[in-house]
Amino acid sequence: MENKAGQGHDEEEQVPLLTPYKMGNFQLSHRIVLAPLTRQRSYGNVPQPHAIMYYSQRTTKGGLLITEATGVSDTAQGYPETPGIWTKEQVEAWKPIVDAVHAKGGIFFCQIWHVGRVSNQGFQPNGQPPISCTDKPLTPQIQSFGIDAAQFSPPRCLSTDEVPQVVNDFKVAARHAMEAGFDGVEIHGAHGYLVDQFMKDQINDRTDQYGGSMENRCRFALEIVEAISNEIGADRVGIRLSPFANYMESGDSNPKALGLYMIESLNKYGILYCHVVEPRMKTVGEKTECPHSLVPMRKAFNGTFISAGGYDREDGNNAVAENRTDLVAYGRWFLANPDLPKRFKLDAPLNKYNRDTFYTLDPVVGYTDYPFLETPKA
Ligand SMILES: Cc1cc2nc3c(=O)[nH]c(=O)nc-3n(C[C@H](O)[C@H](O)[C@H](O)COP(=O)(O)O)c2cc1C
Repeated sequence: MENKAGQGHDEEEQVPLLTPYKMGNFQLSHRIVLAPLTRQRSYGNVPQPHAIMYYSQRTTKGGLLITEATGVSDTAQGYPETPGIWTKEQVEAWKPIVDAVHAKGGIFFCQIWHVGRVSNQGFQPNGQPPISCTDKPLTPQIQSFGIDAAQFSPPRCLSTDEVPQVVNDFKVAARHAMEAGFDGVEIHGAHGYLVDQFMKDQINDRTDQYGGSMENRCRFALEIVEAISNEIGADRVGIRLSPFANYMESGDSNPKALGLYMIESLNKYGILYCHVVEPRMKTVGEKTECPHSLVPMRKAFNGTFISAGGYDREDGNNAVAENRTDLVAYGRWFLANPDLPKRFKLDAPLNKYNRDTFYTLDPVVGYTDYPFLETPKA
């Protein structure tokens, strides 16, 4: 495993985040990753041409980008105008976006998700209830992605023999991502969505082989990992986890053990990377320092380790320099600073992000209109 930035010391100060890193077969030129960021500009669940500019603005040669969460099936949605990858039309619509990122030398992974019970019947085919590992409903008024009125319909608990069908949806979505030209997929196993719902003991109340023990609760996630690895190759598979978070009422009584169990299991499949959200990101958008640490997971994992959640330039540099992670994913700062790697290189000031436009639908405002650093005239 590659690790640690900056072999040797140049006279000039090395910026650890700006050092190269070999992630499996991918040669990265730096360690600053575009975190998955839902943007709600994919009208009718179809990626739009304006995403070409959005993603290519954030592309650097040898930089890793992860897409916004992308639905695996027609039951996967819980937010308006989020993209999918289950239809031919969606696959075709992703192609020019992927091509644009590749044309600038970027490495592009598609984050695939299913929201499970974080949904309502309005998003579901034929107005059916959302599906989950449970029939326990979410508290209705949770503020979710800036939508105050989010109302969650009580979910329908998947029967044991329906679960493999959802695993298959993930597998087909991964195949579609390959068809669209992506370099790989990231399974969204974080933040209280379907995969996380199965993993967390505060939600999962099943009595079959997908519930109860930690091993059983992780079975769904690992079946997805296995199916996708067999389909597209483990060297193209990443997963995002947030064992310490309790977004969407998805806490666990023993997050440390859960995280380590997942890491040890993932090692058996030899997947490319594990992307873990910092324990300090317990609630959406708020950074609260807390005593847990990702280091045991990082040490136990054989592949590339990506950390995310509340990093700034200094934090990220320290984490890389101290070998606490291989790569750092930046969300809000990358959203507001399309040239974030350049700004970090120069230690230039950052644009502030505007929370009010995170989830609005405009193809430009709060999306592609954040300014780049001015290039000094020669
Ligand atoms: C606007 C917005 C959209 C997000 N969408 C996703 C998403 O689609 N998938 C995901 O795994 N995380 C999502 N997140 C979480 C981010 O990837 C990231 O973990 C979080 O913002 C913390 O990192 P930061 O402090 O660098 O912003 C989102 C966060 C924001 C602010």
